[in-house]
Amino acid sequence: MASACASAEDALVFYTFGPDETKRLGARLGRCLNPDAVVALSGDLGTGKTCFARGVALGLGLPSSLHITSPSFSLVNEYEGGRIRLYHMDAYRLESLEAFFDAGLEEYFYEGGVAVLEWSDRWPQVLPAGSVRVLLVIEGLSEGGHRLRVEISNPPEAFTI
Ligand SMILES: Nc1ncnc2c1ncn2[C@@H]1O[C@H](COP(=O)(O)OP(=O)(O)OP(=O)(O)O)[C@@H](O)[C@H]1O
Ligand SMILES: [Mg+2]
Repeated sequence: MASACASAEDALVFYTFGPDETKRLGARLGRCLNPDAVVALSGDLGTGKTCFARGVALGLGLPSSLHITSPSFSLVNEYEGGRIRLYHMDAYRLESLEAFFDAGLEEYFYEGGVAVLEWSDRWPQVLPAGSVRVLLVIEGLSEGGHRLRVEISNPPEAFTI
């Protein structure tokens, strides 16, 4: 996995070449997260946000047998049994910012767990200031899937290249 440390926003930039590598990168981040961490994922349809979230779950110590899928009707899926509880949220199907608040989703940012939010760029104003931001961009094809640029901004201190 190639990595470099340069972008306009001082994000850490990684390239992955298939879902396993994206998951591994998510796990590296997950191992460094503390309670109340928020991981704000953004990127177009099918880039690998859920795949990255699965990696974060592994990094939190949740078993690999756990099948993590995007919450849709439930809006948030909770997973216990790891080092820290995981809240997996997806803003894609939410109609409005109001719906986000009506569903009480912002409360999960402060419940002592780790919150991972897909489509976080829909309403960036809801994100706590300390959120880790992860942007996924497909940059072509590779043998193992697509070549994905993963930009991680504001990572926890323990997360290094
Ligand atoms: N480098 C890669 N990283 C992650 N996923 C990859 C990569 N290359 C190919 N894939 C494939 O791309 C798909 C990504 O699906 P995933 O559900 O993680 O995306 P998503 O961004 O969550 O989608 P959605 O926008 O629907 O929520 C999977 O089928 C995965 O196998
Ligand atoms: Mg998804």
